[in-house]
Amino acid sequence: MTRLLSVVSGKGGVGKTTISVNLAASLYDFGVNSVLMDTNLTTPNLGFHLGIPLHPKTIHDVLRNEANIHEAVYTHPTGLKVIPAGISISDLKTTNPERLARVVLDLVGEYDLVIMDGSAGLGKESIASIESADEVLVVTNPNIPAVTDALKAVKLSEEFGTNVLGVVLNRVTGSKAELDVEDVESLIGYPVVSIIPEDPLFQESLAAKTPLVYYAPKSKPALELKRLAAEIAGIEWKMPKVSQGSLLQKLINLFR
Ligand SMILES: Nc1ncnc2c1ncn2[C@@H]1O[C@H](COP(=O)(O)OP(=O)(O)OP(=O)(O)O)[C@@H](O)[C@H]1O
Ligand SMILES: [Mg+2]
Repeated sequence: MTRLLSVVSGKGGVGKTTISVNLAASLYDFGVNSVLMDTNLTTPNLGFHLGIPLHPKTIHDVLRNEANIHEAVYTHPTGLKVIPAGISISDLKTTNPERLARVVLDLVGEYDLVIMDGSAGLGKESIASIESADEVLVVTNPNIPAVTDALKAVKLSEEFGTNVLGVVLNRVTGSKAELDVEDVESLIGYPVVSIIPEDPLFQESLAAKTPLVYYAPKSKPALELKRLAAEIAGIEWKMPKVSQGSLLQKLINLFR
């Protein structure tokens, strides 16, 4: 059975693409037959996160009925399968997101899991991504504007009968000004399934066009993303112990 999972947020810039790319890379490493698709049709940037060169066929060509979805599948050098979006202005002007639910069906039976990277806002293209999916993963940040928009994405998902897997609370610094997990859960009404810290490694991995799980595989956020991917796929995976470094480093840490 093919699972169709859309990563949504309502508010833009909270980390949907970052989470999608790292989940997809982890799933690929676990041997899950998955494909990562850009459903951010007006401001797509999945390709930039992975350093994908301009691909001859994109989801935009598929939505215009100028290609079939299999022609738009790009195999990243890591082996990860990706369906990128077109980045030209004409692509965003000439695309009808309402066909998305129809074209995604052509992936059913081909893959075990389709991850759709959603767009900012809750306009037509976000609705199309939610409508095309069976399940949504909601990404938010620990502040009221992000959580309020996440709640709207959740309500829309419920209206379409799309199952809400849970909430990823991203960019957590631990500051007192932030909403805590209980606040977020009670406002959104679904459990927080993962907490990802604010970490400069994410910017570094973006600059290196490499998912964090490859760029810094032993870092805490990378391990948490792998754990989440395993949980989503129902794979048993044991979190490795994070090394505290040398004896000298341990002593330094002790006196900090
Ligand atoms: N946990 C984190 N710590 C630090 N930086 C992060 C973290 N998560 C994401 N970022 C950074 O935040 C920026 C926005 O992330 P991303 O592009 O994934 O958001 P998005 O929700 O997909 O945005 P959009 O709505 O525009 O599609 C990127 O520069 C990314 O590297
Ligand atoms: Mg994005």
